[in-house]
Amino acid sequence: MFNLILFGPPGSGKGTQSDKLVEKYGLKHLSTGNLLRQEIADKTPLGIEAKSFMDKGQLVPDEVVIGMVDSYFDQHKGAKGFLFDGFPRTVAQAVALDKLLDLKNTSIASVLALEVSEEELVKRLLNRGKTSGRSDDTNEEVIRKRFAVYINETTPVAEHYKKAKKFIAIKGEGSVNEIFSALCKSIDKKMDRD
Ligand code: AP5
Ligand code: MG
Repeated sequence: MFNLILFGPPGSGKGTQSDKLVEKYGLKHLSTGNLLRQEIADKTPLGIEAKSFMDKGQLVPDEVVIGMVDSYFDQHKGAKGFLFDGFPRTVAQAVALDKLLDLKNTSIASVLALEVSEEELVKRLLNRGKTSGRSDDTNEEVIRKRFAVYINETTPVAEHYKKAKKFIAIKGEGSVNEIFSALCKSIDKKMDRD
């Protein structure tokens, strides 16, 4: 298996680049944000619980997210590999992911981190909020809260993977295709080495 994490703050282009990467490399796209929004749309108990956190820009509790990832693995047993988008977002999630992959005799190949300035991120998200229907995009206060949560709770995840020498920073500003090329270059290099 070949597993990647696409890492980065809200609005950094994880979803945009994931769509292109899964197509090129034949990986399963595991976006916890998308899975949670589907649960909300289906009005499941998990979705109802998650919505109250997401609307405020807070993280959904670790055990809820980890359980969801575990069942996604169960539903995709023959996968060639996974592209994780928006997960792991806390060190506890990263540790849980390492364990889950270990059980499958696999691990994370690389963590590709998209780097974008905060002003550009706010601009992108407010712009997306005009059409996305995502309640967490329309209010600048909630967007700023998501950044604060990213700094406080998610940046330690970068340290976790830096220690494991898996962390690669990628410039996340420029055209979608330029960023995609930079990501592919890094992935191809890693694939050649393994
Ligand atoms: P999630 O859905 O993961 O959202 P996010 O991380 O806040 O990031 P976004 O999806 O908003 O941005 P993105 O990086 O995917 O960028 P995109 O490609 O869309 O999480 C939402 C919520 O769910 C969280 O706040 C939390 O409550 C909960 N949650 C999810 N996972 C969780 C977890 N693991 N643990 C706990 N809670 C969890 O691009 C953004 C915009 O920019 C788009 O309009 C796009 O068209 C545009 N754009 C993309 N690339 C470019 C470019 N190069 N130039 C200009 N514009 C661009
Ligand atoms: Mg996204």
